[in-house]
Amino acid sequence: MSIYLDHAATTPLRTEVLEAMLPALTGTFGNPSSIHAAGRAARTLIDTARDRVALALNARPREIIFTGSGSEADNLALRGVVRRRAGSGGHLIISSIEHEAILETARDLRRLDFEVTELKVDAMGRVDRDVLAAALRPDTVLVSVMLANNEVGTIEPIRELAEVTHADSPAVFDTDATQALGKMKLDVEELGVDLLTVSAHKIYGPKGVGALYARHGTLLDPLITGGSQERTRRSGTENVPGVVGFGVAVQLAEAERAVEMRRQARLCAELSQRIQQGLPDAVATGSPVGERLANFCTFAFPGVEGELLLMRLDRVGICGSAGSACTSGSLAPSHVLLAMGLSPQLASAHLRLTLGRSTTQADVERAGDVICREVTALREHALRA
Ligand SMILES: Cc1ncc(COP(=O)(O)O)c(C=O)c1O
Repeated sequence: MSIYLDHAATTPLRTEVLEAMLPALTGTFGNPSSIHAAGRAARTLIDTARDRVALALNARPREIIFTGSGSEADNLALRGVVRRRAGSGGHLIISSIEHEAILETARDLRRLDFEVTELKVDAMGRVDRDVLAAALRPDTVLVSVMLANNEVGTIEPIRELAEVTHADSPAVFDTDATQALGKMKLDVEELGVDLLTVSAHKIYGPKGVGALYARHGTLLDPLITGGSQERTRRSGTENVPGVVGFGVAVQLAEAERAVEMRRQARLCAELSQRIQQGLPDAVATGSPVGERLANFCTFAFPGVEGELLLMRLDRVGICGSAGSACTSGSLAPSHVLLAMGLSPQLASAHLRLTLGRSTTQADVERAGDVICREVTALREHALRA
C-alpha cells in the first residue's frame, strides 16, 4: 500500500462530494441561464454552492466568482484589476515566493508596461510589513501576497500587510489562499483583503474549479467575455457539477477543520521528530510550528539530490514532492527556497511531505523510517561513486 504525502499538490475526491456531484451530471443537467424549470434547478444548485463558499470565507455570496481553477482566479485578480484600474502602465507588488500563477502573470504584465516589484522574504519565507511599506508607490495598483506558501507552508501576516497597503495607497490587496482553505480560518473581513483565491481540488473537491472572492466595490475587468455569467465577471456556461462539488467540499472541510488539523499537526510533529532523530543534519525549512500550515512537514537534506530521493521513495510507495507539483519535475531549484536564502545545493535537496485526511499514525511511522533509510542509502551511494 502506498502512502500519499502530497496533499498540497492535490487531494482525492471525497465520496460525499462525488455523491453530491453525480445528480448534477445527469438529472439536473439544465443550463443555469435557462428560465425553464431544468435551468432553474441548476441555478439553485449553483446558488447553494456559492452560499457555502461565501460562508466559509465570511463573504457575501455575490462576492464569489467561480472560475475554472485557482490559477484562473489568480489571473483574474491580477489581470482584471490591472485592466480596469490603469489600462496600461503602473506598478504591481508581489512577494518573491508566490505560486507561478501569480509570479508568471505579474511578469507577463511587464509586457503591458507594468513595473513589478518582487518583495524579498526572510529565511522563513515571510514578508515584512516595513519591506512592503517601502515598496508602495502612488502608482501601485495591486499588492499580491499569498496567505500560505505551497512549498514550505509558511503563513504570511496578511492582515498586517493589507493594513499597510490600505493605509498608504489606493492599491487593491490580493491574497492567494489556495493552500490555506480548509487548513485555517479564512475570514475576509478579519484579513482585510480585497481579493482572495481558492481552489476545490486542494480540499477533496473536484479538479478544475476555483473561485475568486472580490470585495464589493473592487473593480475587475473579466478575462472571459461572452454570456455574462458570474455577474459578467466570468462568462461561460457554469461547470455545475464542479461548483456543486466545491460547495460540499468546503462545507465538510470547515465542519471538520479544527479537529482534523489538530490531528494532522500531531502526526506532522511525529513525522518531523522521526526524521530529525534519524537524520540530525536535516534542515527544517519554513516557519516554526504555529506559524505554518499544520499539515506541512518540509526538510532539506544536505548532500542529497532531491529528485533522486523522490524517485527512490516512489519506488517504495511513498509519494512526496520536492516543492510544488509544478517545480518538481524540473531540475531548477525552487524560486521559493532560493528566495528564503537556501543555497542552490540545499534547495535541490528539498522534500515536502503534506499530510491529509487519510494519513495515519502507521503511515508517519513507516514514512519516517523509510525516509531516514533512503537518505542514508543515497549518501552512502554518493560516497562510493
Ligand atoms: C498557492 C497556489 N496557488 C495556486 C494554485 C493553482 O491552483 P489550481 O491547481 O487550481 O490551478 C496552487 C496549486 O498548486 C497553489 O498551491
